[in-house]
Amino acid sequence: MEAYLTEWLGLIIRWFHVIAGVAWIGASFYFIWLDNHLREPPEWKQAKGIKGDLWAIHGGGFYEVAKYHLGPEQMPRELHWFKWEAYSTWLSGMALLLLVYYLGTPGYLLDPAKADLGAGTGAAIGLASIAAMLGIYELMIRSRLAGNGKLFGALLYALLVFAAWGLFQLFSGRGAFIHIGAMIGTLMVANVFLGIMPSQRALVSAVREGKTPGPEVARLAGLAKLRSTHNNYLTLPVLFIMISNHYPMLYGHPEGWAILAAIGFITAFARHYFNLKHRGIHKPGILVFSAFLTLALVWVLAPDNRNSDAAVERVVATDTEVSGLLRQHCTACHAREPAHPAFQAPPAGIVLEQLADLLAHSARVQQAAVRTHYMPLGNTSGMTEQERTALGGWLDNAGQ
Ligand code: HEC
Repeated sequence: MEAYLTEWLGLIIRWFHVIAGVAWIGASFYFIWLDNHLREPPEWKQAKGIKGDLWAIHGGGFYEVAKYHLGPEQMPRELHWFKWEAYSTWLSGMALLLLVYYLGTPGYLLDPAKADLGAGTGAAIGLASIAAMLGIYELMIRSRLAGNGKLFGALLYALLVFAAWGLFQLFSGRGAFIHIGAMIGTLMVANVFLGIMPSQRALVSAVREGKTPGPEVARLAGLAKLRSTHNNYLTLPVLFIMISNHYPMLYGHPEGWAILAAIGFITAFARHYFNLKHRGIHKPGILVFSAFLTLALVWVLAPDNRNSDAAVERVVATDTEVSGLLRQHCTACHAREPAHPAFQAPPAGIVLEQLADLLAHSARVQQAAVRTHYMPLGNTSGMTEQERTALGGWLDNAGQ
């Protein structure tokens, strides 16, 4: 019953997290688009302090949008802030991290073959790494580095790659991936909370007091702009990490951290193309290069490129041996009625009670238990490399 209710709780929080994330990133994409499409307004609007306007049609009506250079003469009665989208995405994301990775089956976060950590230590390392990344970022953005956007970006990327490498040595691939996602999400929400909001508050209070915003407001606005640029580049990588838990071929790879680094680079670079394009600068080479890097990654990760040596000396198991392997390593979870306390239903809908079940999921089993060590989850039953190769050999033979 507990596993069943936890499953529902997870579903509801995850659902909410995705909705909040769509609202946050959607609003953020919309405002970036808006900023990049504002045109010089007619003179009568300029006289009111409007520096850009645009017209749009949507949902059966015309919209006239105007952006003020500093602020309107009078504070409007109602002002929309767009901050709860960010906060609620982060809060629900942290709740999911807690529920799935810290309180859920240890196998999601831990991998005894990499490091022998208890659930508590794992959670402490995870949270400490997120806090450390935030601390370093805040120090950087409050230092002179903030004046050098390119160097800042390169350092931030190097830091995240280093964190991915480090966590990959301690956690399961999936656990490491999600922590990099949580780090990026935390930086993004901190950018809203610690930089963008204070700057907006300063601007609003200047307008409210009827003052022209002074140098302090301008300085805060400059920093907020830098933070918002970082968020802009971080959106695509963080979205990738949100869906990456569906792809054991990536995080289950022995060098999963490097794959994450490559994909982070490709997606942020592709974002750069669109940022330039919005400013009227066309550099299709960036997109071509990103596509080329993606193809290179597809090629490098292709299964035949890796286990070719192992394939030569492959031992093929008998049917009885394979049934034994399933019972020993898989059916505690992958049964119609799992004996494992954390599962109410067969995980991923995959039942592995019979050899016929195994054949039905041949490709996914090869991926999850032979090519990568993603399965058995957390490998608490201690499945050996030989057993994996034997299982792979049996599946290869059966497929011919
Ligand atoms: C401790 C429980 C547990 C054990 C033992 C286990 N699995 Fe899994 N398995 C899971 C969970 C949980 C998922 C779903 C993971 C997810 O959501 O990505 C899963 C998913 C899978 C998938 C689907 C992966 C994908 O997304 O393509 C395959 C295939 C699989 N397991 C095969 C196996 C095999 C083969 C064994 C035995 C060698 C095994 N599992 C042992 C818990 C387990």
